[in-house]
Amino acid sequence: MARKKTEKEGENAVDKESNSETFDAELKDRIVDLEDIPHVGAAIAEKLRSSGFSTIEAVAVASPAELSSAAEIGESTAARIIAAARKMADIGGFESGEKILERRRKIGKITTGSKALDELLGGGVETQSITELFGEFGSGKTQICHQLSVNVQLPKDLGGLEGSVIVIDTENTFRPERIIQMAEAKSLDPEEVLRNIYVAQAYNSNHQMLLVDNAKELANKIRREGGKPVRLIVVDSLMSHFRAEYVGRGTLADRQQKLNRHLHDLMRLGELFNAAIVVTNQVQAKPDTFFGDPTKPVGGHIVAHTATFRIYLRKSKGELRVARLIDSPHLPESEAVFKVTERGIEDK
Ligand code: GTP
Ligand code: MG
Repeated sequence: MARKKTEKEGENAVDKESNSETFDAELKDRIVDLEDIPHVGAAIAEKLRSSGFSTIEAVAVASPAELSSAAEIGESTAARIIAAARKMADIGGFESGEKILERRRKIGKITTGSKALDELLGGGVETQSITELFGEFGSGKTQICHQLSVNVQLPKDLGGLEGSVIVIDTENTFRPERIIQMAEAKSLDPEEVLRNIYVAQAYNSNHQMLLVDNAKELANKIRREGGKPVRLIVVDSLMSHFRAEYVGRGTLADRQQKLNRHLHDLMRLGELFNAAIVVTNQVQAKPDTFFGDPTKPVGGHIVAHTATFRIYLRKSKGELRVARLIDSPHLPESEAVFKVTERGIEDK
């Protein structure tokens, strides 16, 4: 039941550009730096950032012991900083139902290029949500990210949001040549399309987390300068650095905690800018002792609980790929077949 309503709301939303003023006002209220927290100077802020505490929210939900070791400060100072951050971040604060409805009305959808896949997602990839694409190598995760980066720029009546894109690329798999192919297939000006895709390489998991902060700054700058609003943020892949850096059971809790923070930062960014968040996650096709069930992505429970849409991709014959929606709260679990061709993502 929630689904039908959301779709309607989504359609209304994309047409109302006047709403952007509300977003601007909200942004001004909510965007503050670590240095704005009392007792936090440049040196402490720097240490916090390099330990992965990149936002006020992250500080607000930290424990004094955690913060104390991250910033090399006493626990009582850490506690004071946390208390101040909580006040500023409005953590655990309540939002009126009306305000939530107002935000949800602005939800937009981006076409994947395949009607079947769009349908599986309830109309396309949604803004203000995290969509997780997971599957084995070559299952089409990166291809879908490229296609969405083109499609989000399309006019609204063609399934786009006339928006721009921020890509956090952790595996160096972003290919401008592929974007050009896909843009040409949609009769878009390839140079213009490339201009609206902002790509950064993430060198390790801390850098990856920092780039979310940079993405926020960049999205603001684009907004200020009157560019196409950022409507899509891609992290391809979400897990590769985390997986490589945190090996062994002992570090798993640390990893999950950082990953949790990372995903929440992304989610907030999506809400703040009314952008879709798309993350990829590679899993083995064959269950084995390392990875277990392929429908349980490597990120484990935290990714599963934060992502709003989880799509499991698998290879089929030749160009064909099968997508399955996994445990979505409002959509039935079903499958869609699409193909990856020279032109990009298409129906079979
Ligand atoms: P990993 O990142 O390794 O986990 O895989 P992935 O899921 O990101 O796979 P990706 O999206 O890179 O899919 C690769 C597949 O897409 C290839 O095996 C091809 O089948 C297809 N593909 C990629 N580029 C092209 C292209 O230019 N033309 C065509 N026809 N197919 C392509
Ligand atoms: Mg890939």
